[in-house]
Amino acid sequence: MHVLLLFFCTKALKITHMTDETQQMMKAVEIESGILRLTDRPVPVPATGEVLIRVYAAGINRPDIIQRLGKYPPPPGITDIPGLEVAGEIVESGEKICALLAGGGYAEYAVAPAGQCLPIPENLDMIQAAALPETIFTVWNNLFKRGHLQYGETALIHGGASGIGTTAIQMAKAWGATVITTAGSDEKCGACQELGADLAINYKTQDFVEESRNFTEGKGVDVILDMIGGDYLPRNIDALAEDGRHVSIAFMKGIRAEIDIKTIMQKRLTLTGSTLRPRPVAEKEALAQEIKEHIWPLIESGQIMPVIFKTFSLAQASEAHQALEKGDHIGKLILKIL
Ligand SMILES: NC(=O)c1ccc[n+]([C@@H]2O[C@H](COP(=O)([O-])OP(=O)(O)OC[C@H]3O[C@@H](n4cnc5c(N)ncnc54)[C@H](OP(=O)(O)O)[C@@H]3O)[C@@H](O)[C@H]2O)c1
Repeated sequence: MHVLLLFFCTKALKITHMTDETQQMMKAVEIESGILRLTDRPVPVPATGEVLIRVYAAGINRPDIIQRLGKYPPPPGITDIPGLEVAGEIVESGEKICALLAGGGYAEYAVAPAGQCLPIPENLDMIQAAALPETIFTVWNNLFKRGHLQYGETALIHGGASGIGTTAIQMAKAWGATVITTAGSDEKCGACQELGADLAINYKTQDFVEESRNFTEGKGVDVILDMIGGDYLPRNIDALAEDGRHVSIAFMKGIRAEIDIKTIMQKRLTLTGSTLRPRPVAEKEALAQEIKEHIWPLIESGQIMPVIFKTFSLAQASEAHQALEKGDHIGKLILKIL
């Protein structure tokens, strides 16, 4: 009887606590004519199937910059507050989680579909956990699901020092692949090799097609994860092995490319790609389950660890974007909120 009473009292307390928070205002960062601005917003109210998260830390990703510049608006019904990933505590249950969001991470509170939350691995702190969702979901979805990277194959990962790149190198290595990567300086190449890359090519001083062909003894690479686009497309096609797969996740050098159809036919290549943010919640929840099963144990065993370059406060979100745009970073930039 006493135990039952205590249970109901605790529940009631938690709900009261949550109601208080949902009526409150919170600090958040909004975009005002291409500039990030600290502001006050109401604490968001979770819809059916969503949870309210007290945010401890939020990851910064290049898509946030594209959104700030007005070229990547939030999907319909999603908050205009930027931020695609957070780590924190579910207000109702107290569970510590990290979550993939469609927006709203740059704030003291955020909402996420319950199925897009994953438990924080015991060996990681909140800052490290906030660096996981966007890159892990993207790499799992593209390098493994669309690119079908197999044990023993060779992957070429462009932008190896980026948030995505540092994650992709480690995930591919943990999967038993040989990893070739590109980066824009010898220092970045060294960091990629420390993360496990078998070959890191400074694309400013070396030709990645030639280098990767030599490294694979003329065979070429099995899968390419490409965020560069533009004139990299025909060069990537040259770098691929027979039955190779090319996965586009961005097009930093442009949306158009001229490609040789004959080579695609002769090598039996597959060209694919995907976006993550606009996809339905059910698809992201399915990805979360696969990631929990296949990738979470590799994080818990320390084989895959987030690379944190620098942390900023919420009020410093603008400086954080400037740092990402400057491009000197290796790994992830994080907003430390609590
Ligand atoms: N499709 C999706 O689902 C999805 C999801 C998330 C992110 N993305 C995209 O993935 C990309 C990476 O995101 P992020 O947050 O990890 O960004 P980030 O950390 O800012 O990385 C961008 C990287 O690109 C590198 N780079 C630029 N030009 C290059 C070139 N010609 N060759 C090789 N590397 C080059 C930069 O470093 P160096 O040039 O100095 O080496 C930098 O490391 C972004 O374009 C983003 O939009 C796609």
